Amino acid sequence: MAATQCLLLLTFLSILLVSSYDGVDANLQPTAGTKDGSEQWGYVEVRPKAHMFWWYYRSPSRVNDPSNPWPIILWLQGGPDSPVATGFSYVEDENLVVKTDEEAATDLTTLLKALFNGNETLQNSPLFIVAESYGGKFAVTLGVSALRAIAAGELKLQLGGVALGDSWISPEDFVFSWGPLLKDVSRLDNNGLSGSNRLAGIIQQQIEDGKYEDATSTWGDLEDFVFENSNAVDFYNFMLDYSQDPTASQSEVSKSLMVEVYSKFIGAKTFSSVKGASSPDLGSLMNGPIKRKLKIIPNNVIWGGQGGLVFPAMVGDFMKPRINEVDELLAEGINVTIYNGQVLWIFHSFPRQQLLECVCFSDIDRSSNKHIYINSFSRWDGLKAYLESDRTPLYCGEDGTVTKGFVRSYKNFFFYWILGAGHFVPVDQPCVALQMVGSITRSPNTNSSF
Ligand SMILES: *[C@@H]1O[C@H](CO)[C@@H](O)[C@H](O)[C@H]1NC(C)=O
Ligand SMILES: *[C@@H]1O[C@H](CO)[C@@H](O)[C@H](O)[C@H]1NC(C)=O
Repeated sequence: MAATQCLLLLTFLSILLVSSYDGVDANLQPTAGTKDGSEQWGYVEVRPKAHMFWWYYRSPSRVNDPSNPWPIILWLQGGPDSPVATGFSYVEDENLVVKTDEEAATDLTTLLKALFNGNETLQNSPLFIVAESYGGKFAVTLGVSALRAIAAGELKLQLGGVALGDSWISPEDFVFSWGPLLKDVSRLDNNGLSGSNRLAGIIQQQIEDGKYEDATSTWGDLEDFVFENSNAVDFYNFMLDYSQDPTASQSEVSKSLMVEVYSKFIGAKTFSSVKGASSPDLGSLMNGPIKRKLKIIPNNVIWGGQGGLVFPAMVGDFMKPRINEVDELLAEGINVTIYNGQVLWIFHSFPRQQLLECVCFSDIDRSSNKHIYINSFSRWDGLKAYLESDRTPLYCGEDGTVTKGFVRSYKNFFFYWILGAGHFVPVDQPCVALQMVGSITRSPNTNSSF
């Protein structure tokens, strides 16, 4: 099984590192692992009484080649579900949960310092921060924070790149695209479209006035509105009804549905695809056999037990964009990849262009909709050449003649369109997702069984 397969199976964990690591550092307390060294895990106390859990998988396909160090992937799932108080990570005082993306990035930087600074082998492996959904906001903020720490000599690692999947990095742009997109695919009519745009306009004003908590609340209203007016379209795949979503029977429809549904979706879908329909829910798995295996989880820490603290603490940051961070990473020459599923709407920017291609590239067509293209990669000098480049079609697996996606790139910017995927790209299109991760990390999968 290739490294990235482990990765796909375990993306629901709070932090996932993939590569080889045997080192035990004084800061890493407590730490444990499997006897064969293929897995390690532990806690880092990122601030007094704030404990972040990490779990590290070494790829079974690893070939030792000192001239070509194996990459490490730090996977940040969305939710928001990687800061302290999510998963097995915990706080001893509820006030210690993070309130902003920056605070989350600072904690993650502290984690990286604890893991990397004492280990030269790790320092030689490029680190790729790969994120999905809300994790994209953390990923770019962490990327910037890590670069600063590296420049200051406080963090010893090589940042190989940052990859963002269906990421929530420009909420204002997304909310304006929901109506037009869903009308284009017949899930809303004109009344639905104008109602949706009206709420998006309120959000825009609230953001402009700096009323970010109100903007988050209106975002919840907009979700409810779209849900009601579309006869319950699925949030993560506009080809489906919400009732076709595996979480539908478990979750009441309510405000801020997206956040609530998110972790349940991951649990139900990812795990059932591994073990079959009769498998227990994710919480039972994590708090049962997994907790017993890990041994170091304090008795009173329940996987997901503090998760309810995280979103309410972040309501003031949830609607803030993280476009400038993408810009900064590009300007610093860091490889930045954006990948997007074709049939999701909740992280969609505008119907005919996909996320960031239009969100970030302000010169495409400002006149067509004054509400979008608010943010731009102003400092990236490759923009024009990028837009003029051709897309390359992607194929994968046995049906090698079917188009699975496209990629366009110029210099250090890469954009993937993944066809037939909703929000959970690796779940919907595992073959091309794995191929893409292989390209991003420059370590192609040689195991074709996937
Ligand atoms: C660093 O990691 C390498 C590779 O996993 C391991 O062999 C080594 O023991 C570690 N070194 C220290 C000082 O922890
Ligand atoms: C970044 O992308 C370029 C272009 O594909 C590649 O040559 C370079 O090696 C990449 N850097 C890393 C760290 O993967």
